[in-house]
Amino acid sequence: MSQQSFPIRPFMPADTVALRDLFAQSIEELTAEDYTEDQRLAWMATAADAKAFADRLGSMLTLVVQVNGEYLGFASLKDNTVVDMLYVHPYAVGQGVGTVLVDALERLAKARGAKELTVEASDTAQTFFADRGYIPGRRNLIPIEDEWLSNTTMSKPLTDEGASAEQPENT
Ligand SMILES: CC(C)(COP(=O)(O)OP(=O)(O)OC[C@H]1O[C@@H](n2cnc3c(N)ncnc32)[C@H](O)[C@@H]1OP(=O)(O)O)[C@@H](O)C(=O)NCCC(=O)NCCS
Repeated sequence: MSQQSFPIRPFMPADTVALRDLFAQSIEELTAEDYTEDQRLAWMATAADAKAFADRLGSMLTLVVQVNGEYLGFASLKDNTVVDMLYVHPYAVGQGVGTVLVDALERLAKARGAKELTVEASDTAQTFFADRGYIPGRRNLIPIEDEWLSNTTMSKPLTDEGASAEQPENT
């Protein structure tokens, strides 16, 4: 199932509202087993300011999966070394969208000289990243508004066999 292919394109400012909705729905529906309602609301509120969210996505290498007009997921690479964001829409989860996005970021980072990628993986995504070769390091507690959210710093060396050969479109 995870080997499915999806079209990938770079983020455009016009995607902002749809990706903000996707971000909120992904957190609300997919992370409920790992984070409380208050923690999820604080996490979702980090995108409350649409302009700041657009600026954040635009300042990084952000890739979007959109099929037949529907937004299925997005991911962002920061400083060519950090997977800063990875969110899949609940109705598209488990179909390989996350894998295609991470593979694309790994390939692009490697092409630009990165030797390793890191991610502060949510507790929800930790197994996903571990299955893709990311090694868990320290545990973190991140203050967001009045809440503390846990995550794990994970890293993956970008060896020759580390990234897929799939090509994102228009990048
Ligand atoms: C983590 C996430 C991006 C995975 O996206 P996805 O499109 O479902 O991932 P894929 O379909 O490519 O891969 C699914 C694989 O990961 C595993 N997986 C996905 N979500 C998982 C979860 N919550 N817990 C355990 N395993 C999970 C599946 O078992 C599957 O394994 P397989 O490769 O053997 O088939 C998605 O669940 C998500 O958006 N989560 C909420 C937001 C989040 O926590 N983002 C990460 C911030 S660092």
